[in-house]
Amino acid sequence: MKNFKDWLYKEYQTGIPTHVTNTLLKEGIPEKWIVPASMIIHHLSEMPWYTQKQLLEDTELSKQELIELNAIIQNSDFLQQMIVFEGLGKKYWNTILTHVSSGNISKVLNYEYALPFRLTLFPGMSCMYYCGFCGRNQQASYKPGEVLVSGAKKFKDAISGLPKGSRISISGGLEPLTNFKLGEIITHAKKLGYKVPLITNAHMLTPKYVAMQPGLWDLDSLRVSLYGTDQESTFNVTRHPQAYEMVKGNIIEFLKERNKRKSNLKVGLNYIILPENMHTILPLLDYINEVNSKVDNGPGIDFLTIREDFGSVTEIEDDVDKSVEGRKYYLEGFLTEEQRQELISLFAEFNKRREKECPDMHVDFGYAMAALGEGILGKPLARVKGTQMRKSGYPQLSVAMDSHGDIFLYKEAGFLDRPENQKFIAGRITEDKSMADILKEFIASRKIIDLDKSDDRFMDSYDHLITLLVNQAEADINAGIPFELGPVKLRKQDQTSSDTELSNHWYKDESG
Ligand SMILES: C[S@@+](CC[C@H](N)C(=O)[O-])C[C@H]1O[C@@H](n2cnc3c(N)ncnc32)[C@H](O)[C@@H]1O
Ligand code: SF4
Repeated sequence: MKNFKDWLYKEYQTGIPTHVTNTLLKEGIPEKWIVPASMIIHHLSEMPWYTQKQLLEDTELSKQELIELNAIIQNSDFLQQMIVFEGLGKKYWNTILTHVSSGNISKVLNYEYALPFRLTLFPGMSCMYYCGFCGRNQQASYKPGEVLVSGAKKFKDAISGLPKGSRISISGGLEPLTNFKLGEIITHAKKLGYKVPLITNAHMLTPKYVAMQPGLWDLDSLRVSLYGTDQESTFNVTRHPQAYEMVKGNIIEFLKERNKRKSNLKVGLNYIILPENMHTILPLLDYINEVNSKVDNGPGIDFLTIREDFGSVTEIEDDVDKSVEGRKYYLEGFLTEEQRQELISLFAEFNKRREKECPDMHVDFGYAMAALGEGILGKPLARVKGTQMRKSGYPQLSVAMDSHGDIFLYKEAGFLDRPENQKFIAGRITEDKSMADILKEFIASRKIIDLDKSDDRFMDSYDHLITLLVNQAEADINAGIPFELGPVKLRKQDQTSSDTELSNHWYKDESG
């Protein structure tokens, strides 16, 4: 298994090592199909969205032959394990499996109604930071007097209406802690049995604030988006002079209170690696050590998620977001290949120190950083162009909702007054219209959105992946090789039980 995994981690080449050939033969692959089988297994383990059409071209098999070979691969438990759990794409696979079990992908393609499997709440009223990679309209904020009470009711009603097994999370939009009814919403969700994760910049997470919002203790996890490891790096990203000291102090006090209460709430950090801050990855460990050393009554930071920029500002050619009046600054460009190479050695040092200095902290490198974290260059984050987006979204799989009750088809569209985001609103929840009513109407209307090549700015990394997945499902059906006839058993809807516990938390090895 170890040798086979090592082969999966290397760039694919047709010169297949003997041990791989021998394993494939042992798993029942006919000798004449060793190379085609190796392509199918390797490509799908790295890029779960790889289509049957691409495989027909790569392998030069006929459709009938590919279907036959797929069936042999499906029948091997070992090869299934390798594709889904052991390749460079394992983080992507993890997200995918939750959606296979929901059975909603085919509903997306057939315009059949279902409530979203994953609902993201954007309760924030405003935000005090000005991160250069974030697509928010830096001048926009909600009027609490108008939407705080009605918004909280809409959030609670939407949660109550979800089918069993759905996932809820709280993010932004803007900064969720700016909503003074946040705790109430969390408690409502918890009472209904949901594990709720929150992501926040923690600027307002003072002891006084926490005392005012006891519902925060009903969270399953609280993840702080950390934007620097010292005064200068934090200011560079957030443009807020107090951000560094405030956030550090707040995290320490929150952890102490968590321990005092003997609460199970998991507390973690999210750190985005940018070309501008990649050298703060080791200082990040010093930061964590410092926080932990000040929490003297129990455990410190439970988990760390390391993420790449998904490029909703930095990788977009047109400057519609960058030129919004009042925007303080913006960042541009992804990590280069040389910088990713350098990250491999930085991460190696990071991993070595982390094991010694904070062995209990779970580290999740996310979709594309996972390879770098294991010492392999791998591929950058999977993304699609604006024109490859689903023209009617995929509300059966995922939507976001804000305090107006607007239902957004893509997560990064859910920023108040972000230019041109209106076309991605499925509708607004009102006294007379529930989320179910809106989505029923929207799906039945088969509304086609006029897409622009820069519309990928409205997607986060999860949206990119889901788009690739739905596009793949459609392409495979069109090629006459739907998932049932494909090489991966778990892609067949009935193969994953509906209560498969995957995703939606960051503190175990099951990240979303
Ligand atoms: C938009 S923020 C809203 C919640 C809160 N204001 C915060 O910063 O945590 C949600 C998460 O998305 C992340 N985010 C925003 N833009 C991003 C980008 N271009 N690439 C990767 N993550 C991004 C933020 O760092 C944060 O962790
Ligand atoms: S990433 Fe979060 S903290 Fe930064 S500007 Fe956007 S909403 Fe505000």
